[in-house]
Amino acid sequence: MNESIELVERSPTVEEYQVLRRSTGWAMLPDQDVRQGLDRTLYSVCALASGRMVGCGRVVGDGALYFYVQDLIVLREHQGRGIGRMMMDKVMAWLDRNAGPDAFVGLMAAKGYSPFYARYGFQPRPGNAPGMYLVRGDSGQADEQAGG
Ligand SMILES: CC(C)(COP(=O)(O)OP(=O)(O)OC[C@H]1O[C@@H](n2cnc3c(N)ncnc32)[C@H](O)[C@@H]1OP(=O)(O)O)[C@@H](O)C(=O)NCCC(=O)NCCS
Repeated sequence: MNESIELVERSPTVEEYQVLRRSTGWAMLPDQDVRQGLDRTLYSVCALASGRMVGCGRVVGDGALYFYVQDLIVLREHQGRGIGRMMMDKVMAWLDRNAGPDAFVGLMAAKGYSPFYARYGFQPRPGNAPGMYLVRGDSGQADEQAGG
Protein backbone atom coordinates (compact mmCIF):
# COMPACT_ATOMS: atom_id res chain seq x y z
CA MET A 1 0.00 0.00 0.00
CA ASN A 2 1.66 3.23 -1.16
CA GLU A 3 -0.95 5.85 -0.33
CA SER A 4 0.55 8.91 1.30
CA ILE A 5 -0.67 9.69 4.77
CA GLU A 6 -1.74 13.18 5.82
CA LEU A 7 -1.95 14.10 9.50
CA VAL A 8 -4.60 16.65 10.43
CA GLU A 9 -4.98 18.17 13.88
CA ARG A 10 -8.72 17.95 14.32
CA SER A 11 -11.29 15.77 15.99
CA PRO A 12 -12.80 12.86 14.07
CA THR A 13 -16.49 13.25 13.33
CA VAL A 14 -18.84 10.98 15.26
CA GLU A 15 -19.18 8.79 12.18
CA GLU A 16 -15.41 8.58 11.64
CA TYR A 17 -14.83 7.79 15.30
CA GLN A 18 -17.46 5.06 15.25
CA VAL A 19 -15.88 3.46 12.16
CA LEU A 20 -12.45 3.46 13.82
CA ARG A 21 -13.87 2.19 17.08
CA ARG A 22 -15.81 -0.60 15.38
CA SER A 23 -12.60 -1.69 13.61
CA THR A 24 -10.94 -2.38 16.96
CA GLY A 25 -13.72 -4.64 18.21
CA TRP A 26 -14.18 -2.34 21.22
CA ALA A 27 -17.68 -1.92 22.60
CA MET A 28 -19.79 0.52 20.60
CA LEU A 29 -21.05 3.63 22.38
CA PRO A 30 -24.11 5.84 21.72
CA ASP A 31 -23.56 8.63 19.16
CA GLN A 32 -24.68 11.32 21.58
CA ASP A 33 -22.11 10.27 24.18
CA VAL A 34 -19.43 10.11 21.51
CA ARG A 35 -20.39 13.64 20.35
CA GLN A 36 -20.00 15.01 23.89
CA GLY A 37 -16.77 13.15 24.48
CA LEU A 38 -15.22 14.34 21.22
CA ASP A 39 -16.32 17.93 21.89
CA ARG A 40 -14.52 17.85 25.25
CA THR A 41 -11.28 16.45 23.86
CA LEU A 42 -8.20 18.57 24.59
CA TYR A 43 -6.32 17.53 21.46
CA SER A 44 -6.97 15.26 18.49
CA VAL A 45 -5.00 14.16 15.51
CA CYS A 46 -6.39 12.25 12.54
CA ALA A 47 -4.59 10.34 9.82
CA LEU A 48 -6.04 10.52 6.32
CA ALA A 49 -5.21 8.32 3.32
CA SER A 50 -6.56 9.81 0.09
CA GLY A 51 -8.84 11.97 2.21
CA ARG A 52 -10.27 8.99 4.07
CA MET A 53 -9.91 8.72 7.84
CA VAL A 54 -7.67 5.77 8.71
CA GLY A 55 -6.57 6.67 12.25
CA CYS A 56 -6.96 8.97 15.20
CA GLY A 57 -5.47 9.74 18.58
CA ARG A 58 -6.74 11.97 21.37
CA VAL A 59 -5.69 13.61 24.61
CA VAL A 60 -8.29 14.07 27.32
CA GLY A 61 -7.98 15.54 30.81
CA ASP A 62 -8.20 18.77 32.79
CA GLY A 63 -5.65 20.57 30.67
CA ALA A 64 -3.36 21.42 33.59
CA LEU A 65 -2.73 18.67 36.12
CA TYR A 66 -3.84 15.45 34.42
CA PHE A 67 -3.73 14.34 30.80
CA TYR A 68 -4.60 10.94 29.31
CA VAL A 69 -3.72 9.63 25.88
CA GLN A 70 -6.85 7.95 24.56
CA ASP A 71 -8.21 6.16 21.50
CA LEU A 72 -5.02 5.72 19.50
CA ILE A 73 -6.50 3.70 16.66
CA VAL A 74 -5.40 2.79 13.15
CA LEU A 75 -7.65 0.84 10.77
CA ARG A 76 -6.46 -2.73 10.62
CA GLU A 77 -5.52 -2.65 6.93
CA HIS A 78 -3.30 0.39 7.56
CA GLN A 79 -1.56 -0.89 10.68
CA GLY A 80 2.16 -1.54 10.71
CA ARG A 81 2.94 1.40 8.37
CA GLY A 82 4.11 3.81 11.06
CA ILE A 83 0.80 5.72 11.29
CA GLY A 84 0.38 5.02 15.01
CA ARG A 85 3.90 6.28 15.63
CA MET A 86 3.33 9.43 13.53
CA MET A 87 0.16 10.24 15.45
CA MET A 88 1.85 9.56 18.78
CA ASP A 89 4.67 11.93 17.76
CA LYS A 90 2.01 14.64 17.24
CA VAL A 91 0.42 13.84 20.59
CA MET A 92 3.77 14.12 22.35
CA ALA A 93 4.58 17.39 20.58
CA TRP A 94 1.24 18.80 21.76
CA LEU A 95 1.93 17.61 25.31
CA ASP A 96 5.37 19.24 25.17
CA ARG A 97 3.68 22.55 24.38
CA ASN A 98 0.69 22.24 26.71
CA ALA A 99 1.53 20.07 29.73
CA GLY A 100 3.72 21.65 32.38
CA PRO A 101 6.66 19.92 34.05
CA ASP A 102 4.50 18.76 36.98
CA ALA A 103 1.65 17.36 34.85
CA PHE A 104 0.75 13.67 35.02
CA VAL A 105 0.24 11.97 31.65
CA GLY A 106 -1.40 8.54 31.71
CA LEU A 107 -2.61 5.94 29.25
CA MET A 108 -3.73 2.33 29.13
CA ALA A 109 -1.53 0.30 26.82
CA ALA A 110 -3.01 -2.59 24.86
CA LYS A 111 -1.39 -5.96 25.31
CA GLY A 112 2.11 -5.97 23.79
CA TYR A 113 2.28 -2.19 23.30
CA SER A 114 4.21 -1.19 26.43
CA PRO A 115 7.50 -1.01 24.48
CA PHE A 116 5.86 1.31 21.93
CA TYR A 117 4.90 3.78 24.70
CA ALA A 118 8.06 3.23 26.74
CA ARG A 119 9.90 4.85 23.86
CA TYR A 120 8.08 8.08 24.69
CA GLY A 121 9.02 7.84 28.36
CA PHE A 122 5.91 6.08 29.70
CA GLN A 123 6.48 3.49 32.40
CA PRO A 124 4.21 0.83 33.90
CA ARG A 125 2.84 1.42 37.38
CA PRO A 126 4.39 -0.83 40.00
CA GLY A 127 2.63 -4.14 40.52
CA ASN A 128 1.68 -3.25 44.08
CA ALA A 129 0.04 0.02 42.93
CA PRO A 130 -1.91 -1.01 39.82
CA GLY A 131 -4.11 1.26 37.77
CA MET A 132 -7.79 0.58 38.41
CA TYR A 133 -10.97 1.46 36.56
CA LEU A 134 -14.73 1.40 36.87
CA VAL A 135 -16.98 0.98 33.86
CA ARG A 136 -20.56 1.93 34.59
CA GLY A 137 -23.34 -0.08 32.96
CA ASP A 138 -22.91 -3.09 30.73
CA SER A 139 -21.64 -1.55 27.49
CA GLY A 140 -18.87 -4.14 27.26
CA GLN A 141 -16.13 -1.55 27.82
CA ALA A 142 -14.95 -3.53 30.84
CA ASP A 143 -13.87 -6.37 28.56
CA GLU A 144 -11.77 -4.15 26.35
CA GLN A 145 -10.13 -2.39 29.26
CA ALA A 146 -9.34 -5.73 30.84
CA GLY A 147 -7.96 -6.98 27.53
CA GLY A 148 -6.24 -3.80 26.52
C1 LIG B 1 -1.90 0.52 18.47
C2 LIG B 1 -2.00 0.97 17.04
C3 LIG B 1 -2.63 2.35 17.01
C4 LIG B 1 -0.59 1.08 16.43
O1 LIG B 1 -0.70 1.67 15.18
P1 LIG B 1 0.22 1.22 13.94
O2 LIG B 1 0.07 2.23 12.88
O3 LIG B 1 -0.06 -0.19 13.58
O4 LIG B 1 1.66 1.31 14.62
P2 LIG B 1 3.02 1.60 13.87
O5 LIG B 1 3.03 0.99 12.51
O6 LIG B 1 3.31 3.06 13.96
O7 LIG B 1 4.00 0.80 14.79
C5 LIG B 1 4.49 1.38 15.96
C6 LIG B 1 5.38 0.40 16.64
O8 LIG B 1 4.57 -0.58 17.31
C7 LIG B 1 5.00 -1.88 16.94
N1 LIG B 1 3.83 -2.75 16.84
C8 LIG B 1 2.98 -2.82 15.81
N2 LIG B 1 2.01 -3.74 16.07
C9 LIG B 1 2.30 -4.27 17.29
C10 LIG B 1 1.68 -5.26 18.12
N3 LIG B 1 0.56 -5.89 17.75
N4 LIG B 1 2.23 -5.52 19.32
C11 LIG B 1 3.35 -4.86 19.71
N5 LIG B 1 3.97 -3.90 18.98
C12 LIG B 1 3.47 -3.63 17.78
C13 LIG B 1 5.64 -1.72 15.59
O9 LIG B 1 6.60 -2.73 15.40
C14 LIG B 1 6.28 -0.36 15.68
O10 LIG B 1 7.54 -0.45 16.27
P3 LIG B 1 8.77 0.17 15.46
O11 LIG B 1 8.51 1.65 15.42
O12 LIG B 1 9.93 -0.22 16.31
O13 LIG B 1 8.76 -0.45 14.14
C15 LIG B 1 -2.80 -0.02 16.17
O14 LIG B 1 -2.21 -1.29 16.26
C16 LIG B 1 -4.26 -0.14 16.56
O15 LIG B 1 -5.09 0.67 16.13
N6 LIG B 1 -4.62 -1.15 17.39
C17 LIG B 1 -6.00 -1.38 17.75
C18 LIG B 1 -6.49 -0.31 18.69
C19 LIG B 1 -5.73 -0.32 19.99
O16 LIG B 1 -5.57 -1.34 20.63
N7 LIG B 1 -5.35 0.88 20.42
C20 LIG B 1 -4.78 1.09 21.73
C21 LIG B 1 -3.33 0.86 21.74
S1 LIG B 1 -2.77 1.09 23.41
